[in-house]
Amino acid sequence: METFQNLPAHVSIIMDGNGRWAQRHSLPRFKGHYEGVESVRAIVECSCTMGIRYLSLFAFSEENWNRPQDEVSRLMELFAQCMKGELDNFLKNGVRFVVLGNREKFSASLNSTIDEMMDKTAAGNKLTLVVFLSYSGKWDILQAARKLAVEHPDGNFGPDDFASALVTDGIPDPDLLIRTSGEMRISNYMLWQLSYTEIVVVDTLWPDFRKSNFLDALAEYEKRDRRFGKVK
Ligand code: FPP
Repeated sequence: METFQNLPAHVSIIMDGNGRWAQRHSLPRFKGHYEGVESVRAIVECSCTMGIRYLSLFAFSEENWNRPQDEVSRLMELFAQCMKGELDNFLKNGVRFVVLGNREKFSASLNSTIDEMMDKTAAGNKLTLVVFLSYSGKWDILQAARKLAVEHPDGNFGPDDFASALVTDGIPDPDLLIRTSGEMRISNYMLWQLSYTEIVVVDTLWPDFRKSNFLDALAEYEKRDRRFGKVK
């Protein structure tokens, strides 16, 4: 197994390019999402083997609700199906499964599947797998601001209080953000939490992104000199 001197504690991925992958293979868009699930499996497995503590995946943004209804419904079905199908695997490998995002828009059945998955895997202590669903960074900041306005009406709160009010409370900020398919943007993802995250953009489309691509990104991270705005 490859060894790294400096493994990120938290790797986050913007999984992009499923639609383009399907188009290139003359397939309907949802086939790209199906193949993307295989990449998710490969990267979760590799993260477990490598000893990464937190892996987070941007699977569905608040903006994605505006996609054609058929694609949205297929994605929702796919999420529910994948979660249920992976339960035994998660339990066996010590994976704690967490979904973060605005769950008000999900069906009651999807919400209960998510609750069940989160409850049953809560004791997983090897890898925390966070799936961001119906999430946007601006939404997260707004919901935190609303909470803080009630808890601290005097406005007397600092950055740590703010971080604790975000939905990622208890999860360290990402050390490494990988974005696939070559797009150079953060697309309303964890706007607060990514402040000092190292970013690696790869041209590979998400359904083609597998173990070797992941290891390459970890190797690229290892070369980075993180200064957090200070002088070394
Ligand atoms: C981005 O590609 C991908 C998505 C919006 C969906 C991601 C979902 C999966 C990979 C399915 C499985 C996920 C889990 C967590 C089980 P795109 O459709 O925006 O691609 P495009 O930019 O080429 O159109």
